[in-house]
Amino acid sequence: MKGIVFTELCDMIEKEFGPKTLNKVIDSANLESGGVYSSVGTYKDTELVSLVTQLSSETKIAPQDLIHAYGKYFFNVLKSNYEMFFDKPDCFEFLKSIDNHIHVEVKKLYPDAELPRFSYEEDGNTLKMKYTSPRHLSSFALGLMEKTIEHYGEDIEVLKENLKEDGSEVLFTLTKK
Ligand code: HEM
Repeated sequence: MKGIVFTELCDMIEKEFGPKTLNKVIDSANLESGGVYSSVGTYKDTELVSLVTQLSSETKIAPQDLIHAYGKYFFNVLKSNYEMFFDKPDCFEFLKSIDNHIHVEVKKLYPDAELPRFSYEEDGNTLKMKYTSPRHLSSFALGLMEKTIEHYGEDIEVLKENLKEDGSEVLFTLTKK
């Protein structure tokens, strides 16, 4: 995964739980990188799992809830770093542009980026998005989607269902109310 995912996670941990917790988490996570991240570097996604697992045992917050919170936090990072992608008129148009535009451009910028795939089905007020990724980060996607909805100021309900038990395929159903 790209370093920005790690540098921003460390920032969130420091802001939300304090520098002592961040140091404890890094020390106990046994990281190949030693917990020293550069935003342009690339690191194993197992390091993300280790950091979240340690943070969970430190804070007693479930790993999925931490990943969800991190998705919400990361939206603000995207908004300030990649303003050019926020040119879509509404939430559904923006979400539909992730797979065939935004993540395509991201891959051009960082050929080693590991991105999820999304497929779409739109019918009136409903957008179904199928998430596929071997990294099982659909709770991160949910956080990003919720903040996208908030950003556009729309009233949209999101339902998340696992299509595969391991979380590698997840269906999101977004309904405009
Ligand atoms: C400006 C908009 C966006 C940009 C620039 C962007 C860029 C990125 C980048 C750089 C990564 C990390 C790749 C890596 O570490 O190798 C990533 C991962 C990811 N992105 Fe996006 N993204 C955007 C919007 C979104 C939105 C709105 C969603 C959700 C609906 C989303 C879903 C994900 C997920 C779930 C991952 C984690 C990797 C995985 O699940 O396999 N992205 N994105």
